[in-house]
Amino acid sequence: MVEAPDAGRSERIAELFDLVVDSYDNVGVSFFGPIADRLVAAVDPQPGDRVLDIGCGRGAVLFRLASAVGSTGEVTGIDLSPKMVATTAHEARARGLSNVNVQVMDAMQPTLRNGTFNAITASFMIFFLPDAAAALTRWRSLLVPHGTVGVSTFSAWDPRWAQMEDLFEPYREGQFFSVDPRDPNGSFGSDAAVERLMRSAGLVDPRSTNFDLDLLFDDADQWYAWTRSHGQRLLWDAIPDGELERVRDAAFERLDAWRIDDGRIASRHRIRLTLAQRP
Ligand SMILES: C[S@@+](CC[C@H](N)C(=O)[O-])C[C@H]1O[C@@H](n2cnc3c(N)ncnc32)[C@H](O)[C@@H]1O
Repeated sequence: MVEAPDAGRSERIAELFDLVVDSYDNVGVSFFGPIADRLVAAVDPQPGDRVLDIGCGRGAVLFRLASAVGSTGEVTGIDLSPKMVATTAHEARARGLSNVNVQVMDAMQPTLRNGTFNAITASFMIFFLPDAAAALTRWRSLLVPHGTVGVSTFSAWDPRWAQMEDLFEPYREGQFFSVDPRDPNGSFGSDAAVERLMRSAGLVDPRSTNFDLDLLFDDADQWYAWTRSHGQRLLWDAIPDGELERVRDAAFERLDAWRIDDGRIASRHRIRLTLAQRP
């Protein structure tokens, strides 16, 4: 059997998100939920619709979609991480949702029936893909005619985070996740770039909106816990054990410049939503 070129990468993404499954979006800072609110509102699924949520993680988008489509609709979530899938499926059962199914599946090669979905969502996942244009082309064929794809990505980066870059830079080399989703010249670096990506996949009428999401951390420990609770965990885990404390302490020192009057630590995240249609 010929090994897929990204086989190692998929395994490492699955391992990364397996590792963070319990802390993911669960350290007292609301990040993925508010983004999911905006994405679902923009995609605007209707009662009875079938919707696919790609890279569903712990279900931030998936569960909101399930409410929107109601008992006559159906929501499918797929993710590479078996633990994300198992935990989210368990939660769907615990919530008594009969209109949700969750499966381990690679977004690059979803084995789902063409022409099935009224909408597809992918929140904060598209930049993990080895070939986003190829994936979007495949997703297009899963949609019904005029069906909608909606993705969220990072927009302009808060300069405060850039102040941390040099701390992590020495450890970046060799990381499988080489695309910087915030690179202004990259495939996800501007509204125009993401819209171009959509067009290259045969989707039409791409359009983007941006909004700011403000996060407040009670203290440096909560900031650290949050940065370890999602994909950014990769940056910390690339630091050798003997150097971790030094890098973390240096980051904590810089966090003092992020404090607001009441002592909490503030950061602002500009988020982009991009929608497009199957012709
Ligand atoms: C940052 S999380 C976002 C999860 C969720 N969409 C949310 O908004 O909370 C990215 C998710 O994409 C999944 N993922 C990354 N690459 C994938 C792929 N090729 N196929 C399926 N899922 C993938 C990861 O396992 C992870 O759960």
